[in-house]
Amino acid sequence: MRGSLERPRRLRRLTVVGGLAAALALGAVSATAGVVQAQGLPGQALTAGTSTTTSALLPDYDNEIVTRFDSANSVEHIRHLAVNIGPRLNGTPQEREGAEYIGGILESYGFKVSYQTWGPVSTKRVAKVTSPNADLPGGPNWQMAASTSGKFTGDNGVEGQVVDAKTGQSAADFPSDTEGKIVLVDYSTTASVRNTAVANAVSRGAIAVILAYPTGNSAPPSFTLTTPQPNLPVIGGGSAHSAWIRGLLAKGPLTLRIATNEYVNPMGTNVLAVRHAVGDPTGTKAPIVMVGAHIDSVLGAPGAHDDASGNGVSLEIARVLGKYPLDKELRIAGFGGEEGGLLGAREYVKTLTAEEKARFVGEWQMDMVGTPYEPARLWALTPNGQSNFVVEEAYKAADRVGFEGLRNCRLGQSDHQAFYDAGIPASLFIWLDYRPPAVCGSSGGSYVTEPEYHRPTDTMDNISPERLQITLDVVGGAVAHNALNAVKVSAVSDGGQPLAGAPVRADCGDGERNVGMTGTDGRLDAVFPHATCDFTVVVDGATVVERGVSISGDRELEVTVDLTKPTISLTKPADGAVFTLGAAEIVSYRCDDNLSGVAACTGTVPDGGALDTSTVGFHEFAVNATDKAGNSADQKVTYQVVYPWRAYFPETMDGKAGSAVPIKFSLGGDRGTGVIAPGYPASRQVTCDTGEATGAAAPTATPGNSKLSYGGGQYNYVWKTEKSWSGTCRKFELKLDDGSSHFTTIRLK
Ligand code: BES
Ligand code: ZN
Repeated sequence: MRGSLERPRRLRRLTVVGGLAAALALGAVSATAGVVQAQGLPGQALTAGTSTTTSALLPDYDNEIVTRFDSANSVEHIRHLAVNIGPRLNGTPQEREGAEYIGGILESYGFKVSYQTWGPVSTKRVAKVTSPNADLPGGPNWQMAASTSGKFTGDNGVEGQVVDAKTGQSAADFPSDTEGKIVLVDYSTTASVRNTAVANAVSRGAIAVILAYPTGNSAPPSFTLTTPQPNLPVIGGGSAHSAWIRGLLAKGPLTLRIATNEYVNPMGTNVLAVRHAVGDPTGTKAPIVMVGAHIDSVLGAPGAHDDASGNGVSLEIARVLGKYPLDKELRIAGFGGEEGGLLGAREYVKTLTAEEKARFVGEWQMDMVGTPYEPARLWALTPNGQSNFVVEEAYKAADRVGFEGLRNCRLGQSDHQAFYDAGIPASLFIWLDYRPPAVCGSSGGSYVTEPEYHRPTDTMDNISPERLQITLDVVGGAVAHNALNAVKVSAVSDGGQPLAGAPVRADCGDGERNVGMTGTDGRLDAVFPHATCDFTVVVDGATVVERGVSISGDRELEVTVDLTKPTISLTKPADGAVFTLGAAEIVSYRCDDNLSGVAACTGTVPDGGALDTSTVGFHEFAVNATDKAGNSADQKVTYQVVYPWRAYFPETMDGKAGSAVPIKFSLGGDRGTGVIAPGYPASRQVTCDTGEATGAAAPTATPGNSKLSYGGGQYNYVWKTEKSWSGTCRKFELKLDDGSSHFTTIRLK
């Protein structure tokens, strides 16, 4: 059964059985809040620009754990305790069996299990009532009170058909075939009436007598007879028992087996399961997070709700938490003898040393944690009515799942009292129709229990899986939160400013998860198991990854987010630099980042590589720097590559208007005749003595007249001047396709 208990991880919406509307009216459930929380943080869109897609992220550990809690598993444990074992009266073998069942499960979850036997306690006289063939309502293991006036049969008991002898007061009450049968008669509160009924049954050859309350939702009564009946078992049943027997008899013959036992001053049993913290294998220093429930039930009651339910929830919390390496010590207890006056819990607390008590974070006691009884609500009750750490943590867990129905007030009456008395923060968690006083604290309120409370009808019908789930999410959520390590993450910029609204992710080796978002103060409280994690914080496109953060115990973690762009120092080519065509030039640049380091520094040509000088003209050279946080910077410069120019003409010369003037120059080789920039050469009139331009620039005469040629290692541009320029000076400009311009001024005759 346990192997199949794992449920696929999925979002779950809380619902309350027995009147969702009523539950909502009380604020018991806030479905929308629960869903928002379960789906992850609303700020996920802010992580855009990072490599991980948000949909693949796991939830934070608080969320992951509550998603794993499944009340269906709790129900199966409750069924084992309340149905397979049945009533578990303190000091009886069933209390022990309950302890061993709980211990066995916890051992399979990796806990170290021990049993504490204590006592002796008061003598218990019980009847185990079963049927070899009938399906008994409420479960196969009925328990009634065995009278000291009857016979104790031992485990084997007697078996026979049942006859209904009504009040058993007159011959007419008894069927003619009473001989050799088990006789059912009404239990009377008047001793003489009981005595007569039993004597009448015995005289008619009964092999056992059941005196059961005919009405009134009564528990099985313990009683004595004025006339002892040492030869047959005489037992007391509750009103449910008489109703069930009469119901079965109406359908046909009914066979029961009755085994009566007297357990003289028996011992009670506690089961204690411990899971030591990772770094504290002997359990001497780690903080202790404890969960408790009671194993025992009152005589006659299967105790499904009171309190198999508490153990069902404890076991599911243990199953889920058992999968995480923890730095806190987990203790799960099943206490015996609670119904006898918190006996087992008090015995357990007595074993705690002062140092051990000081290690306690708290004790979360669960007693009656999920009845479908509509008026019941989830209460955190403390002996003094004050809130405490355990209560506060439950409120926070309720908040995380969107459950608004938790309330706190005053009550003892369960095992939390023993811890409270020892100075350990403890609270009783209970689904109860508790009626608080006007002011909670100085005095307690009143309460109404469900009709099945402490009755044979406290069966699986008195269990609500939906409410168990809420208890799991609230109490289990609080326990898990405290069993994990508290990590206070703060995000600050490299300038020291707190960074609000920063999504924090973490990968602790089990997948990347969404941890949450920093608040306005730049802080985020999160919980983690014992782990080494890589933390990622994203702000304004800058991503900081803090690798290998060791989490073993509570700690603080400051993550500095680099929001400063990297710097680029470009030495060569410098902006505006001029290089000769074909020259060997080595580029030189570097990128720096003060904080996160440089992720990439890329230029048009890698640093140390050869600058491209293979073509003349203006060229762009770009460098991009990206730091490890994702901040990037760019720098762009322009450099010029020119021909190796040499002029074979003077700066000024004389010429004759209308004649051709040869302009000779060298470009270090034959570069073809397309080396002149479009629109050039050009000339314009200038003042002869100052050289100041007086006219607009004019292209040289038609290309047919002027002409560039190459020969003998030289270029020769033959410039045809115009006759009309006679007596003026002109400045001649030869602009090349490498962007360079060359001049000469001519005085024309
Ligand atoms: N599960 C109950 C606790 C309880 C408290 C039930 C309040 C209903 C209302 C517990 O098992 C129990 O029955 N306790 C006893 C007291 C105990 C000290 C014997 C009780 O409340 O009578
Ligand atoms: Zn109880």
